[in-house]
Amino acid sequence: MPRISAPDVTAAKGTRKIAMLAAYDYTSARLAEAAGVDVLLVGDSLAMVVLGHNDTLSVTMEEMLHHVRAVAKGSQSALVVADMPFLSYQVSVETAVANAGRFLKEGRAGAVKLEGGREVAPQVRAMVAAGIPVLGHVGLTPQHLAALGGFKVQSKTAEAAAKLLDDAQALAEAGCFAVVLECIPAPVAAAVTKVLPVPTIGIGAGPDCDGQVLVFHDVLGLYDRLRPRFVKQFGELGEQAVAALTGYVEAVRSSDFPGPEHSFSMTPDALAAFSALIGQNKDTSDSRPTKP
Ligand code: KIV
Repeated sequence: MPRISAPDVTAAKGTRKIAMLAAYDYTSARLAEAAGVDVLLVGDSLAMVVLGHNDTLSVTMEEMLHHVRAVAKGSQSALVVADMPFLSYQVSVETAVANAGRFLKEGRAGAVKLEGGREVAPQVRAMVAAGIPVLGHVGLTPQHLAALGGFKVQSKTAEAAAKLLDDAQALAEAGCFAVVLECIPAPVAAAVTKVLPVPTIGIGAGPDCDGQVLVFHDVLGLYDRLRPRFVKQFGELGEQAVAALTGYVEAVRSSDFPGPEHSFSMTPDALAAFSALIGQNKDTSDSRPTKP
């Protein structure tokens, strides 16, 4: 099956819902693909979920590339989108294109994502002109955490909602193939979805978006440090993981693991020769010089 492309995602608008998942490594990419996920986002949320930081700000290009490569290797049919880390695209259009290009060239991603509205339209235009598909992201944009004053619902006033619509339109006009709407009132997301010519992918943005995105660890119940209201856990694998790991620790301590079925044998002749060899070595070691 050919890999889903950015134009395929755009063409899905109005025909079927798009299932996107943020995943960060080879194994999770394989699991997500087996479940039929359309788009795998290597989100900068890996800074928190995988690297243990308090926010997404300090993850680097090299760290993101490391994970993008792993996800690209683990997937065959999903579109892989690399999230551009904080300050990898804001400083200048030139560095933005160069960094985005690295995700396709070195990471083998099929597209990049960046946060922001009208102010990043020049970067989007330049990337698209260079042949790099771009996914936009407005609403709660965690790279603006310091300016926003925390992880809060955005666009709650009429003016803020109108600005968000303008930002989303600017991104679509600049060439984004789709736009993520994060943590905004459902009616605002519905209005943006109606007006925008490209799909909206919601997270905490209600049911009317063209697609949805959640984080792999949240869907499976593996990350309990932050649990926003918009997260739905579809499994409790964290509890199952602790139970399985406890079983392992107990089996090691009680010598129940490893059993004969996990061990390797050798022929009696080889074992006899080995024993003789050890005996010989023992004799040799007896002749080692003693310390003064
Ligand atoms: O980093 C991320 O995982 C994201 C999604 C939540 C949209 O940006």
